[in-house]
Amino acid sequence: MRYRHKGMTLQIESTYEAISQTAARMLVAQITLKNDSVIGLPTGSTPEGMYAYLVKMAEEHIVDFRDVVTFNLDEYLNIASDDPQSYTYYMHKHLFDQVNLQAKNTHIPSGTHSNADEVCQAYDISIFQHGKIDMQILGIGNNGHIGFNEPDIKFEAGTHLVTLDAETIRANARFFKTAQEVPKEAISIGIRNIMQAKKVVLIASGEGKAEIVKQMLFGPITPKVPASILQLHNDVTILLDQAAAKEILPLLSIQ
Ligand code: PGA
Repeated sequence: MRYRHKGMTLQIESTYEAISQTAARMLVAQITLKNDSVIGLPTGSTPEGMYAYLVKMAEEHIVDFRDVVTFNLDEYLNIASDDPQSYTYYMHKHLFDQVNLQAKNTHIPSGTHSNADEVCQAYDISIFQHGKIDMQILGIGNNGHIGFNEPDIKFEAGTHLVTLDAETIRANARFFKTAQEVPKEAISIGIRNIMQAKKVVLIASGEGKAEIVKQMLFGPITPKVPASILQLHNDVTILLDQAAAKEILPLLSIQ
């Protein structure tokens, strides 16, 4: 089912598989129409299904990544890029090592450089030099973060060093053996970078996201729910499975 809500497109499908496939198809369409597209990429458990479909479509020669440029949203601070917990490792595992993206065209902020501010500045300059991000794919955290733009972020920020929110650290703990190992800081592109993307596609899955999805779409635009800023973007598609749409479905049907 498709709805228009405050200028955004909401697409609700029955399963996680279905939204993963839709997100992959939207990316493939973007790359097919512009083979040197600049794509903003997320990590986390939600996009894993989308990456699996992208790899499958690349294997079937439906899409060619040779000239595609990618910028990842974020990376943990002080985790080596070859550490399995790093987002760099995640990206190699789920996409980079499985398709013909060129290493020189993939970008992830370095979490191990001695000067984080320099990394942030260089990342913003590099995005700028590539023109605008054509399509930015996002997940959403339980606290409303997009990238690691945590609650109370300044909307105007570019790439910056972030102290992770207690809720994010709790959510990420499932990927680590002990709570102490969970990184407390990260480098993330800013809301400004995300809002400057030409198209934004956000995917959310599962009942655990239902309440924050409602706040993002029906609540006030506030730094307390960073994703609420997307209400002001002029080309946003929100892909939700039935469970993530649970809280908003009754509100949509009475419109
Ligand atoms: P998740 O994370 O996909 O693992 O739920 C989403 C996010 O924090 O952006």
